[in-house]
Amino acid sequence: MTGLGPVAWPPAPIRTERLVLRESEARDRAAFIELFASPEVHAYLGGPRPRDELERAVPEVPGRRPGLFVVDLDGAMIGTVALDRRDAERPGHVRPEAGEAELGYLFLPKAWGRGYAAEACAAVLDRLAGVLPGEPVVLCTQTANDRSVRLAAKLGFTEVERFEEWGAEQWFGVWSPVAPSG
Ligand SMILES: CC(C)(COP(=O)(O)OP(=O)(O)OC[C@H]1O[C@@H](n2cnc3c(N)ncnc32)[C@H](O)[C@@H]1OP(=O)(O)O)[C@@H](O)C(=O)NCCC(=O)NCCS
Repeated sequence: MTGLGPVAWPPAPIRTERLVLRESEARDRAAFIELFASPEVHAYLGGPRPRDELERAVPEVPGRRPGLFVVDLDGAMIGTVALDRRDAERPGHVRPEAGEAELGYLFLPKAWGRGYAAEACAAVLDRLAGVLPGEPVVLCTQTANDRSVRLAAKLGFTEVERFEEWGAEQWFGVWSPVAPSG
């Protein structure tokens, strides 16, 4: 997680009830290409990239960067969850110095509708709250992206504002860890 202070990377894998969240490996390459080439995945993200271009351009070990978790179900990648710093130039901020932690998620359509995205994202938020207590997390998604807005709400994000970007209305929300009581 670039600039996320004392967060160690690569991470110790996160295990949830059904999933393992880990750093990417060479064996994930085909699934990354599947993800980037999918018209359904990119319906609200500017459209997919041509598969032949991806076959040439995608590195041997894709997605290996601080903040990006591969979501693994029974040994195979089904999606990614990432935490990045939100670019100060973009609209949507919850603090004057900007650079907030921002959550993003991409899952293969065959894995939608089973609660895997919610399970993986909740675990990443929980890990972040453990290493950076009190750190708010922001999320931006098109208002038309129903599944994504539903997921954001389920995770506990609340709407801060809506604005136009990339020619579409964006939903911008924030998640704050619950302070331990007592
Ligand atoms: C956004 C996205 C991750 C949501 O995926 P998802 O599978 O719908 O999300 P969830 O993990 O919350 O699963 C919710 C569904 O699983 C169902 N479900 C089934 N079993 C479940 C279980 N054991 N636990 C929880 N939910 C379960 C829920 O009822 C819900 O169904 P519904 O969609 O019919 O209401 C996915 O659509 C995606 O990758 N989209 C493309 C990328 C994108 O747009 N990203 C946004 C940019 S930040």
